[in-house]
Parts: sequence; structure tokens; C-alpha cells
Amino acid sequence: MCGIIGFTGNIEAKEVLLQGLTALEYRGYDSAGISFFPENGSDHKVQTIKTVGKVSNLIDKVSSLSAGPSFCGIGHTRWATHGGVSETNCHPHHFGRVTLIHNGIIENYKELQEELEGEGKYPVSQTDSEIAAMVIDSCYKNNPLKAIKRAVKKLQGAYAFCIMFDEYPESIYAIRNGSPLVATNTKEGSIIASDMVALIKYSKDYFVLPEHHIAHLTKDSITITDLEHNEVEPDMLHVSWDMAAARKGGYEYFMLKEIHEQPEALHNTIAPRIKNQLPDFTTDGIPDSLFNGLNRIIITACGTAMHAGLIGKNMIEQLTRVPVTVDIASEFRYQDPILDANTLVITISQSGETADTLAALRLAKENGARTLSVVNVKGSSIARESDYVLYTHAGPEIAVASTKAYTVQLAAMYLVAFRFALVKGSVSQDVIRNYIRELEAVPEFVKTMLGCDRAIQPISQKLLKTESLFFIGRGLDHALSCEGSIKLKEISYIHSEAYAAGELKHGTISLITDNVPVIALATQEKVFAKMISNIREVRSRGAMVIMIANEDAQVDAALCDHLITLPPIDNAFAPFGAAVVLQYIAYYTAVARGLNVDQPRNLAKSVTVE
Ligand code: F6R
Repeated sequence: MCGIIGFTGNIEAKEVLLQGLTALEYRGYDSAGISFFPENGSDHKVQTIKTVGKVSNLIDKVSSLSAGPSFCGIGHTRWATHGGVSETNCHPHHFGRVTLIHNGIIENYKELQEELEGEGKYPVSQTDSEIAAMVIDSCYKNNPLKAIKRAVKKLQGAYAFCIMFDEYPESIYAIRNGSPLVATNTKEGSIIASDMVALIKYSKDYFVLPEHHIAHLTKDSITITDLEHNEVEPDMLHVSWDMAAARKGGYEYFMLKEIHEQPEALHNTIAPRIKNQLPDFTTDGIPDSLFNGLNRIIITACGTAMHAGLIGKNMIEQLTRVPVTVDIASEFRYQDPILDANTLVITISQSGETADTLAALRLAKENGARTLSVVNVKGSSIARESDYVLYTHAGPEIAVASTKAYTVQLAAMYLVAFRFALVKGSVSQDVIRNYIRELEAVPEFVKTMLGCDRAIQPISQKLLKTESLFFIGRGLDHALSCEGSIKLKEISYIHSEAYAAGELKHGTISLITDNVPVIALATQEKVFAKMISNIREVRSRGAMVIMIANEDAQVDAALCDHLITLPPIDNAFAPFGAAVVLQYIAYYTAVARGLNVDQPRNLAKSVTVE
């Protein structure tokens, strides 16, 4: 949420900032701005350019103003929290001798504002971020490090700040608490940003700024000090993907590109964890002792990641008979969860920075539970703070709507289920080997499913004017319905609900009238007959039925208006293929409605506020 970037070096800073903001735009896109020190600028005057709307508006404005060269600056693309969308509320914020960009929320901004107003200092915006700039300025007596140290003692909440001080026109200072910041020094200079997509053009090597440490960036180096002024060496990390992964590569939208990247992402996530046809976490450093004596598993996550947990629960319980609950992370902390040393809490997160999931993880640790996270972004907060991490290898996911991250999360959860069952001895090695064989076939299965786009496009045309629809299914298909529904809602703005097919008749079926679309998932053999009855129930009330079933299922042609079939695969793996169908339905419907699929309204990638 909110993209931030800072650069100081020997190439044009404005270009680095604007390119970086374009790459980071998926983190927030209601307004954007940059501040920079002009080369040989008179009396250290920082210049700021801001606009509401997309980064492209900012690019136009910057080029129309034809500002002179600059080699040091900061930039921000916003997802509004405090204060509406306006140029005044847009970052960077300048107060006194301080210019700042912020990602996060300052919780005690009201008290701080009152304190500052008592001293006759008034903000011009409605943002908590400007208050932070004012607090830093009031703590500043020509020593930036001391000012930041004093200021953060007063600030409560989550933050990643990049700060410039008027007297230091070649330096950027940064600090974070909760919100992410990664940085690197290269031959072009020093660069810091919310995530790697803004750095990848310059380096594949980077470090995560440790929390509560101050980074001082100059063109030659980055120095990190703790709050006692001790210098600290950062742990360097490396990403295996490159610039191409962060570009659309000929696709109209990142979402479509990422849907198509699923076979490779799945292969990269599954293949390194299979040895002798059995699941193996040796290279992940996950010991079998993690699973010994477990009497309970809690999976906690948000949105799509939570939906992956629902499918994972099914497989873990089936193979190990250990009870699994799936909790929405934003609720988990407030329901006084029962946790002990024999509970394993699994957090699932693409970004590894989702504030609610991170808070749930911290609570689990405080209460002595074992923790494992399934995370996509290397070195992210959730990955670092969990006892163990199983990385998914999806590469960067840039579309706000999660697609490839979801299917690799399913694969990771299946691997966890298989390894746990193996350690527990709850099923035979042969059973696990059969499952592994099926899992290895998943990338190819998903590749085949990518070919169903032609069948989906006419269906999307029919959904174009729909106001509301239902996804129904039983068992795994119900869990998958939840994912289909969120995907459609978030990018097409069509209201939908996911319902357990058998539950519909207990109330909600009153909403099924002529031509109400119902997307019915019927991929699970053991509940197929029951599912057919549920489809008949909606059909007889006039529903327009789009059915997803296995190729070999006996489906009466009169039962549905559209039938999408999956090639033969063990029922447990059908969600991988059906997920592609649901992703396509959401994608093509949103495209047909003329919407910006990658940047849906009100949303942003990586939700770093609670
Ligand atoms: C939906 C979507 C969100 C995320 C959720 C968790 O398409 O992307 O629901 O799944 O915000 O994000 P992560 O996985 O980064 O914790």
C-alpha cells in the first residue's frame, strides 16, 4: 500500500523516481508526487511536483514543467488513508526543513497535531504523514540522525519514511516500522523503495532495511545505524527474476500475464521440494520436528491467501486427521485464540507484508505456538518473523488481483499436508507418492486449462450487464467458489456471493429468479449427485447456469447454459484447473466492462494497514 522510492546518485533522479513510481503504482494509484533537489539549486530549495490520478499524469506534469537536472529525490504513489484524494494530501509533504514520504499510518497523529498547534504550527493537509514531517522538523537541530531518532520515539503506528533535509541536498534518510523498505547501492547511486520491482532495473541484489534502523543514502554508499548510532551490516538478498518479470511482456494486463505464468510458477514451487517422489523440505530448512506432536493447526491469512488456506485445510485434515481451522487474520487477534506449543499456526501471504496477517503471526508467537509461513516475497516481514518459511516461487505479482500467487499457495499447502502426513505416518508412502505424481502433473494440467479462454469470453459477454451473481459448490468447490467470487467482485465490480450449494435453500435461494447467473462448480465426485440436485433447484427457478465439471462427468445438457470441462485429474487437484476458469471469468468480464483490470478502484496491492 503506497509506493515509495528515493534515489541519490549520478544519473537523473527524476527519471529514476518516475520509472520507479510507474513500477510501484500497483501499491496505490490515487495520486503521486516527487520532490528533488535541483543541481546547484539556490539555497537548498527542494522542488515538489504533485498530481491527483495516475503516475502518467505526474510524468506529463513533470515534463511540462521542464525542471532542470537533479540527482537526489523522493517519490510517492498514494493509496489514501487519512484525508481524501487531493493534491494537498498527496506526498511528498514539506514542513520547515523536512521533506518526507510515508507508507503506513500514524495512529497518534491527533495528539501530536494538538501539541504542534499549541506551538503555533499548523498542517496544510489532512494527512497523518504531514504531522510526521512536522514532528521530525521540530526535533531537527541540524543533525538528521538525531532528529529521526527523537521523532520516532513520539510516533506510534506503522511507517516507512524516506526523508530529505534541506541542508543535505545529496542525502536521503529512511526508517521503517512495519511497512516494507528495500535498498541497494549500485554504480548509478543508492536507491530505496517499497519493493524490489523499483530496484530490479539496477540490481538483483538488495537488502531489507531492518526495522527501527536508519538508512543514510548517499550516491556512494548506504550506511545503516541502529537507534543507538551503532553501524549495522545488512543481510544481502538476491532475486532470481529480472526486468522482464516486472513488465507486461505484450499482454494487455499484468493479470492476464500472471494467469499465463501459472504453469511455470507452479513448476518452480513444486519441483525443488520433491526427492525420490516424496515431499522434501531440506533445502527450505524446515525440520520434521515442526510437525511432531501437533494436535492442531490454525491457518490464518487474508482474502485470496485465506481462500488458499481453505483448500489446504481439506488436504491436511484428510491425510493427517489433525484438526485445522482457517481464520481471517483481521479477526484472529480479537477472538482470543487458543494457542499452545502443540499448535502450528500457518500464515499465508503473497506479499509477506499484510499487516493483519503479520499481527496474527506475532500473536501466535507470543502465545508459544509454532509458526510456518507460506510467502512469495523473499525477506518480507512475515517470512522473517516466522519460525520457518516455505517460499512460493511465483516471481513478482503486480496485478492487484492475485492469480498465480493463489495457485502456488495451493501447491505449497499440499506439500505441507504431504510432508506432515509422511512424518506422522498417517498414510502410507505409496499414497503420498501417488499424490506427488498428481502434483507434479499440475503445471501441465494448468497449461491445458489456459486454453479455455475462448470458451469463457462469450460467457463474460453474457455477464456484462449482470448486477449480482452466485458461485456455488460443495467441499473443495465451495472453498474455490469463495475465490471465484472475490476475483469477480474486485475487478468487475459485479456483486457476487459464494455459497455452499446445499446451504442456498436455507434462505438465499429467494434471490434466484429468471436469468440470475449461477456459476456452479461440480468437480468433486463424492458430492456430484448432491451438487446436481442443487443445480436443479436453481435451474428450476430460472437461473442462468454456468457449470464447471470434469470431462467424464455425466451432465444433462438441459441442466446448464454453459459447460466448461476439466481434463481428467484426481479430484483433489481439480481446484488448480477450476481456478483458471474462475480467473478468466473475472478477467474477461472486467475487460468487457471496459475496466482497468490491474488497478481496480479503491484497492491496492499489499495491504500494510490494519
Ligand atoms: C485478492 C487479493 C487479496 C490478497 C490479500 C492478502 O485478489 O489479492 O485478497 O490476497 O490482500 O494479501 P497477501 O497475500 O499479500 O497477504
